[in-house]
Amino acid sequence: MAEFDTPRPSLVDLAHQAVAAALEAGDIVVDATAGNGHDTAFLARAVDTVRHVYAFDVQQQALSNTRARLAESGLEAQVSLIHGGHEELAQHLPPECHKRIGAIMFNLGYLPGADKSLTTQTESTLAALEQAVTLLRPGGVITVLGYTGHPGGKEEAAAVADFAARCPPSLTICRQGGPPPVPELTILQLSRH
Ligand SMILES: C[S@@+](CC[C@H](N)C(=O)[O-])C[C@H]1O[C@@H](n2cnc3c(N)ncnc32)[C@H](O)[C@@H]1O
Repeated sequence: MAEFDTPRPSLVDLAHQAVAAALEAGDIVVDATAGNGHDTAFLARAVDTVRHVYAFDVQQQALSNTRARLAESGLEAQVSLIHGGHEELAQHLPPECHKRIGAIMFNLGYLPGADKSLTTQTESTLAALEQAVTLLRPGGVITVLGYTGHPGGKEEAAAVADFAARCPPSLTICRQGGPPPVPELTILQLSRH
């Protein structure tokens, strides 16, 4: 019998698929960790659906890299880059966005190609997640991709899993990947009712 080797989607692909499936016309979306801008560009590319993208990072280098990536594809106009921590998510978003966000993406850890000691931190990640669940519109999703190979990563991923387990039943939880050292993707979706 012939064998077919179907490539498996990466966890990044799965996160993008979950977001793409949840997006609705006029959505506002958030990249909570802009990094090198791959996820921000993915969100901005959904121009026909997405009204605006807010992308956060604490490192100026990450915002410069993201700005350059967006410029390559002419996607800057629909993105606001915010030099600030995602633990201040709600504070930075205009009040009219609250409870109207279609997707919030977290890709945890360090900025690839930069200082590996500058990572997301469990406490601020949890603070951001607490706010993120309150900002979603019905049917909106949060994706959290956690890496466990760097110092603190395993604890952060465990805290995200614990957070998901404590979420109310109005949020559907889907987890892929893991256990450490394999990265873990957590998807939270707010019910439509
Ligand atoms: C793995 S990278 C993100 C990758 C990115 N999503 C992409 O598509 O290229 C993680 C990023 O989180 C950022 N970060 C760390 N702490 C943060 C915080 N409190 N708020 C927002 N971003 C943070 C880091 O500076 C780093 O750029």
